[in-house]
Amino acid sequence: MNTPELGLPMPVPAAGLPTHVRIHEVGARDGLQNEKATVPTAVKAEFIRRLAGTGLTTIEATSFVHPKWVPQLADAEDLYPQISDLPVSLPVLVPNERGLDRALALGARRVAVFASATESFAKANLNRTVDESLAMFEPVVSRAKGEDDVHVRGYLSMCFGDPWEGPVPVPQVVRVCRALLDMGCDELSLGDTIGVATPGQVTALLAALTEAGVPVSALGVHFHDTYGQALANTLAALQQGVSTVDASAGGLGGCPFAKSATGNLATEDLVWMLRGLGIDTGVDLGRLVATSVWMAAHLGRPSPSRTVRALSHQES
Ligand code: HMG
Ligand code: MG
Repeated sequence: MNTPELGLPMPVPAAGLPTHVRIHEVGARDGLQNEKATVPTAVKAEFIRRLAGTGLTTIEATSFVHPKWVPQLADAEDLYPQISDLPVSLPVLVPNERGLDRALALGARRVAVFASATESFAKANLNRTVDESLAMFEPVVSRAKGEDDVHVRGYLSMCFGDPWEGPVPVPQVVRVCRALLDMGCDELSLGDTIGVATPGQVTALLAALTEAGVPVSALGVHFHDTYGQALANTLAALQQGVSTVDASAGGLGGCPFAKSATGNLATEDLVWMLRGLGIDTGVDLGRLVATSVWMAAHLGRPSPSRTVRALSHQES
C-alpha cells in the first residue's frame, strides 16, 4: 500500500485523467493586479524568483497595459529585466500593438491577448466592443507570430457568467474562441472571471468547443474561486482531457474591472489534488506554501488557500 509523505496526500490515481498537468501560475499578474496597495517591484521580483524555485515552469509575470488602467502593474518595464534570466517561461499580457512593442523590446517570448465573451466586460476591460477588441488583437497576434519563437496565448473572459449579463450562452463563447484560434493564437485559456461556473457547465462548454473543431490540447482553464467551485471545475476539465490549468499561489487574485471577481484557484490547492490523483506537476508543495506565506506577510493578510492554511498553521 502507498503511504503518503507527511504533509502530502495519499496518491491514488483515477482513470481517464492526464498523466501530467502544466500549471500556468498567474499570482504575480492576476493576483497582484488586484491588490489595493502597490507591491514594490523588488518584492514582485523576489516573489517570481521564489515561485521559479518551486518547480513551476510557466509564471505569468506582468502586463504591458495602460498604466492608468492597472496602476499595480505600471512597473512592468522595471520588473521584467529583473527576472528575465530565470529558466522558466514568463508570459506577459499585451492588449494592443503598443503593449506588444513594450514587451518585445524587453525580450519577452510569450505574450497573451485577452478577449471577452460578453460585450459588457469587453467595454469595461478594454474600452471596446467584442469585435473591436478582436480587431485590436489581430495585428498583435500576426506580428507576434511573425517573430522567431514567440508563443501567443488568447484569454477569453466571462466564459460562464457575467456580472452584468448573467449566464453566457455557449455559442457566444465558441465564436470568440474560434476567432482567437483562427487569428493564430497557440493556446486559449477559458476564464471563469467571476467564479460562478459549476462542473456540468464546464463539461458542456468543452464538449461544444470540441464539436466546433477546437482541439482540447490547445485549451487551458482559468477558474476564479468565488463560490468554492474551482477545484471541482478543474476536475471536470481534466476529465475532458484538458492538461493546462491556471492557478495563483496562495489564491491571490481578482479583476479590478469585474466587481464580483475574487482570487484564482490557489496553486497549492491544485497541487494537493493533483498529487493525490498521482498526476505529475513538478512542483514542490512545501516550497510553494513557504512562498505564499512569505507573500502573505508582505500583503499583511493571510492566504485564503485552504492548503496553505493547513500546511502552515497560518492564522485566519
Ligand atoms: P484606451 O483608453 O481605449 O486606449 O484603453 P487608446 O487605445 O485609446 O489609447 C489611449 C492612450 O493610451 C494613448 O496615449 C496610448 O498610447 C496609450 P496618448 O496618445 O493619449 O498619450 N496606450 C498605452 N500605453 C501603454 N501601454 C499600452 C497602451 N495602450 C494604449 N499597452 C486599453 C485601451 C486596452 C489600453 C486599456 O483598456 C487597457 O489597458 N486595459 C487593460 C485592462 C486590464 O489589464 N485588465 C486586467 C487583465 S484581464 C483579466 O484579468 C482577466 C483574465 O485574468 C482572465 C479571466 O479571469 O477571465 C486574463
Ligand atoms: Mg483572471
